[in-house]
Amino acid sequence: MSAGDDRRDVVAIEASEDIIRARRSGRDIARSLDFSLADQTRLATAISEIARNALHYGGGGRCEILGHRAGVQREITIIISDAGPGIPDVAQAMIPGFSTGHSLGMGIPGARKLMDRLDIESRVGRTMVVMTMVRRFTT
Ligand SMILES: Nc1ncnc2c1ncn2[C@@H]1O[C@H](COP(=O)(O)OP(=O)(O)OP(=O)(O)O)[C@@H](O)[C@H]1O
Ligand SMILES: [Mg+2]
Repeated sequence: MSAGDDRRDVVAIEASEDIIRARRSGRDIARSLDFSLADQTRLATAISEIARNALHYGGGGRCEILGHRAGVQREITIIISDAGPGIPDVAQAMIPGFSTGHSLGMGIPGARKLMDRLDIESRVGRTMVVMTMVRRFTT
């Protein structure tokens, strides 16, 4: 299909209001691609958690939202990155309950459950979380 069916937005994550903006933008793009209300909420929640991490642990970063429509398939990819200290042990950070922030340690595992895919690439100075949600619409 044409590139006109693709949607893209980038939100700088520098303060807590930006988490709300990223969340809203994700929801809007999901809605424009006919994702269900439940999926819009799943996506918005996952964005909130990962963007909050980028702000809290990474000192801020950016959230890129890409919506793509191809035939009956709709796909949303979220890329949240920061230039902070990095996650020393990514596998450990995926385990429910692991937190260096005296918090619940549910942000990453929760987002991973809500999305179809969540991958993390992290080293000192660069952390990138890529999440996708894919749906097929057959009428
Ligand atoms: N962008 C990041 N940069 C550096 N470390 C991170 C980043 N995101 C997550 N982490 C590390 O991974 C851990 C787990 O993150 P997760 O979001 O699952 O839990 P949390 O933020 O500690 O608690 P919660 O999100 O439940 O309030 C964090 O405690 C932190 O050590
Ligand atoms: Mg968190």
